[in-house]
Amino acid sequence: MTGLFHSHASTILVTCPRGMASCLKDEMVRLGFPVKSEHATGVETEGTLIDTMRMNLMVRTGHRVLFLLNDFSALTPDELYRGVTALPWEDYLMRDGFFSVVSSVQNQYIRDTRFANLRCKDAIVDRFMKKYGSRPDTGSSKHGAVVFLYWHDNRCSLYLDTSGEPLSRRGYRTVPLTAPLQETLAAAVIMMTRWNGSDVFINPMCGSGTLAIEAALMAASIAPGLTRKHFGFMHLKGFDASAWRDLTTSAKKIVTVPVRGTVIASDISRDAIEASRSNAARAGVDRFIEFHRCDFRETPVPGGPGVVVLNPEYGERMGHEDSLKTLYGEIGNFFKHRCRGMWGYVFTGNRELAKKIGLRTARKILFMNGPIECRLLEYDLYQGSRKQLKSTGGYDK
Ligand SMILES: C[S@@+](CC[C@H](N)C(=O)[O-])C[C@H]1O[C@@H](n2cnc3c(N)ncnc32)[C@H](O)[C@@H]1O
Repeated sequence: MTGLFHSHASTILVTCPRGMASCLKDEMVRLGFPVKSEHATGVETEGTLIDTMRMNLMVRTGHRVLFLLNDFSALTPDELYRGVTALPWEDYLMRDGFFSVVSSVQNQYIRDTRFANLRCKDAIVDRFMKKYGSRPDTGSSKHGAVVFLYWHDNRCSLYLDTSGEPLSRRGYRTVPLTAPLQETLAAAVIMMTRWNGSDVFINPMCGSGTLAIEAALMAASIAPGLTRKHFGFMHLKGFDASAWRDLTTSAKKIVTVPVRGTVIASDISRDAIEASRSNAARAGVDRFIEFHRCDFRETPVPGGPGVVVLNPEYGERMGHEDSLKTLYGEIGNFFKHRCRGMWGYVFTGNRELAKKIGLRTARKILFMNGPIECRLLEYDLYQGSRKQLKSTGGYDK
């Protein structure tokens, strides 16, 4: 039944962490999706399940692509059950398939969101049993179909979570090391810099390589979803596998090799460089990144224009602060003496340490890294006339 995938248009909510919605909105517009509204944690558009497949494949900064099935009013768990069971789940889910329920619940009758998930799951399963005498399997794995329940006060919305595992898990990072940035956050950070995708991108202190890998994916126009094997939409009834093949074939056609930009990643730790290399290989971009094992101050810096982006530790460990103060001061010196003609960026969650950089910030962009308020600090490292330099107008693909 390909009808559900092609003909049924609905509201699509693409979610993202706080602080990333404007980035996501710009990306959706660039990809040609009409944006109906922007919220703190997502962007609403409209389309079919085929459109959700393209979003899952192409969007770099979204977390989940949710396809709205129905909105209704429900205050109590019984009302929720009745609203859920009224939907034609047999049109969306496979009788012999597997599904899980995830939710965002804020309701006076519900102390534990697991109870809401359970009621929702029971309502779906009971409908199958009544109709066919058999039912899909259920559990917590996100590797089957995923139903998303939004239930705040008496407003209840049911979605198909077409992503399944959140899109931040691109699938290339099997060696994460300590304090890695989420892939989607790294993509958003890069998009907020002035890198245009073809100038130099330097990432000292690369850790597991997330920023460099995301930059290389952008420089080569590789769709982020190409590295993933699993999406929630693949487990929905009527999944159009040939449409998915067409989408991935078109995405492969726009891959630009050799890449236009130069991407350089360095770290003082041997483990970090090894992890970065193997993560980059899994993402298919290892040949587009120059890796160096060295102190950040020794990172090779070809002439500008371009950007230097660092994500140093920011002192979650006690007693570590003094050495980090010195490190942040050294970052300032590195920018001043080695990175002339470029834009410098530091992504950090510690404002006191950021002051130690000692340079005037041109911009401060707020992000949330999980519960931690972070800032991307921008430094203008140009000296002399900017007019002579090719402009870096920001990543724009
Ligand atoms: C917070 S982690 C970076 C995480 C990275 N953004 C990621 O997504 O995996 C900081 C990194 O800085 C590196 N580092 C610390 N001091 C350094 C130095 N003096 N020179 C170069 N790298 C350094 C550490 O080895 C660590 O990998």
